[in-house]
Amino acid sequence: MDEEINPSKEIFRTPKGMRDILPKEGNSFYRIENACRREARNYNFQKIDFPILENIDLFKKGTGLYTDIVEKQMYSFRTKGNEKLALRPEGTPSVIRAYFQEGMRAWRQPVKLWYMGPFFRHENPQAGRYRQFHQFGFEVLNDGAAVIDAQIIQLFFNLLEGLHLKDLVVEINSIGYPEERAVYQLALVKYLKRHFSQLCPDCQRRIRINPLRVLDCKQLSCQKIVAGAPQIIDYLSNECNNHFKEVLELLEELEIPYDLNPYLVRGLDYYTRTVFEIATVQNKKQDDEDQGKDKELRQTLVGGGRYDRLARSIGGNDMPAVGGAAGVERIIEAMKRAKVKPVYPEKPLVFLAQLGERAKKEALKLIEEFREKGVKVAELLGRDSLKAQLKRADSLGVKYAIIIGRKEAINRTVTLKTMKTGYQTSVDRDKITSVIKKRL
Ligand code: HAM
Repeated sequence: MDEEINPSKEIFRTPKGMRDILPKEGNSFYRIENACRREARNYNFQKIDFPILENIDLFKKGTGLYTDIVEKQMYSFRTKGNEKLALRPEGTPSVIRAYFQEGMRAWRQPVKLWYMGPFFRHENPQAGRYRQFHQFGFEVLNDGAAVIDAQIIQLFFNLLEGLHLKDLVVEINSIGYPEERAVYQLALVKYLKRHFSQLCPDCQRRIRINPLRVLDCKQLSCQKIVAGAPQIIDYLSNECNNHFKEVLELLEELEIPYDLNPYLVRGLDYYTRTVFEIATVQNKKQDDEDQGKDKELRQTLVGGGRYDRLARSIGGNDMPAVGGAAGVERIIEAMKRAKVKPVYPEKPLVFLAQLGERAKKEALKLIEEFREKGVKVAELLGRDSLKAQLKRADSLGVKYAIIIGRKEAINRTVTLKTMKTGYQTSVDRDKITSVIKKRL
């Protein structure tokens, strides 16, 4: 009997920005994880799992003290043992920490790792933006070659295409090394100060602490100012310029379409040289005042880039590295928009119904025998009514029902019913798994 819900009782709900992942969505997760495993095998990446909690300083020093992620969005707390920990907001600093902590320098280089799991950011929840979300990431550690930057972009591009996502755009830029950025920043600040009053209050503050962040402010007023700002590409060294040129040439060679975005800087402090994002773009008909006009709906699915100085900033030796991470929920939403079907688990073709205590025990044993033979069997062992069980068999659309009643349990036989025709026949209990296997 269904339990009644007492309307006066308050039912617990998930915390804001956090969701249950129900079986239907779980199937899409499964499909995405399979795609990751496939690409990991194709490109020789090994799986790493790191803790959900890390020392807070890993992110302060790695992701960057003045990034939105660390400054505003981190779930952090002090433990009973007085450790300062944070729920991981991203994976890249943990991968680098693990490289040094686990002695990966002694492994064959470069070390290529991938991961998938939950991450946490205290953001304002909205479509595609949650407080607990899932990312998968691919990172190549200890390789500075431009070809690896191109290969990482290729991997994510192929993975998304393999999930039948179309209309993908790769945006790419190079932001050089901090030395070059320091000179650029002076020119940028000078320009932004001239337009100070037109910037949003956040950007007015950013000019002082992290002026590059103004470049990817989403406020329209700021974007208008940014459109006339000096471009970082004009401040890069010859080496950085050549590295970038090589990445672009390789992308052309691989026929990966890209857009140069001179103002793409990404919201994390550790990037050097190449930065990129992959988005889906969809034309959405507007429904209100601009009726009829198409509006571009752009959702960033992947973000990444090179981070040659991250190892140094968290206390290791300098080590070139490049990688990226993708948001699983955003990919699922894009798959839904593109009407890509999740993979449904294989449907059972056989239902096992039982009547009486002895038959129930026999049914349990028989399920085990079917499992060993790789045949998926549905049942309703908790119900005693044969009618209810056969009704379930019908609703599941199975091909065959196997019925073990009291008589069958004693005779060591079963009744095999073909659901479509209703035809029933008696089969030896010990032969039923082979009979079914042959028929399927
Ligand atoms: P990120 O751009 O902060 O980069 O995140 C990567 C992706 O995670 C985003 O493009 C988006 O799809 C997803 N994502 C981020 N925040 C949320 C959220 N609140 N809700 C839903 N999805 C979200 C990084 O995290 C870097 N660690 C990427 C990287 C790896 N760079 C080098 N290696």
